[in-house]
Amino acid sequence: MNIKTIGVVGCGLMGSGIVEVCARSGFNVIVGEANQALLESGLSRVRKSLDRAVERGKLGKADAEAALGRISGTTDLEDFAECDLAIEAVSEDPDLKQKIFHKLDQVLRPDVIIASNTSSISIAVLASATQRPDRVLGMHFFNPVPVMKLLELVRGILTSDETMDIARQVGQQLGKTTVVAKDSPGFIVNRLLIPFLLDAIRAYEAGLASKEDIDTAVHLGLAHPMGPLTLCDLVGLDTTLAVADVMYEEFGEPRFKAPPLLRQMVAAGLLGRKSGRGFYDYS
Ligand SMILES: NC(=O)c1ccc[n+]([C@@H]2O[C@H](COP(=O)([O-])OP(=O)(O)OC[C@H]3O[C@@H](n4cnc5c(N)ncnc54)[C@H](O)[C@@H]3O)[C@@H](O)[C@H]2O)c1
Repeated sequence: MNIKTIGVVGCGLMGSGIVEVCARSGFNVIVGEANQALLESGLSRVRKSLDRAVERGKLGKADAEAALGRISGTTDLEDFAECDLAIEAVSEDPDLKQKIFHKLDQVLRPDVIIASNTSSISIAVLASATQRPDRVLGMHFFNPVPVMKLLELVRGILTSDETMDIARQVGQQLGKTTVVAKDSPGFIVNRLLIPFLLDAIRAYEAGLASKEDIDTAVHLGLAHPMGPLTLCDLVGLDTTLAVADVMYEEFGEPRFKAPPLLRQMVAAGLLGRKSGRGFYDYS
């Protein structure tokens, strides 16, 4: 394995975290966004996160500057030709992701692995948009990427042993602990988490308790670092809904069915932290 440059497509909540972690681990990073304005806002998210790490004493100023120096941005995926690994982190939309996979397959050297950070879309479906299904897998990071230690590696039906092995080594270089899951919606963590989050929203919708009390109960009673409604705001309500919909379609079980309140909040643009308001107000 000789991976020097990692291409990351999408510089939103997750993409910007993946960019930061790759650059902090010594890789050169090329990040692609849909347009210049989105690229600039994604890169400024990376800069702010690095600044925060410096302020909190978790990273030296020189190391932060060196990490920034390893990152370049583009709005044209043709610029990914030199990448030794690509990680796709665009919005959770199967058509969009398949288009990106198709394009990356045309641009990247044939031996280069293409990973997706998808939370719920089948790796086999994404791989089918390429001529290298053995070199496609899921690399599912957790939010916030620089903080969360877990990386789920998702093995598609045609993913090779070598691809899994290389991804595991990259994960280690990024300072993550890797686990391997089958190509099944939600993998390990979301398979367990999504029904829990939806139940919390249903409980709030049914008037069981205030949102603060639901969150406090879970935070203190289950020793979770934060309550489920706060977590929904952090993950993004649109992402939560998209994942739940895919899981409900796949498994057909009521526990994966999104409650009306979640759908209404997403329709109203209350997406959580990223939009400034979700269950709580961040403005
Ligand atoms: N939010 C989470 O906690 C979380 C956790 C793990 C995995 N994921 C997965 O990560 C992926 C991204 O989620 P997110 O929360 O970062 O969403 P997000 O909306 O914050 O970011 C998605 C980014 O993709 C960009 N994008 C859209 N079209 C593009 C294109 N054609 N080319 C380049 N960039 C494009 C958007 O401009 C946006 O910046 C999804 O697949 C999601 O399921 C999310």
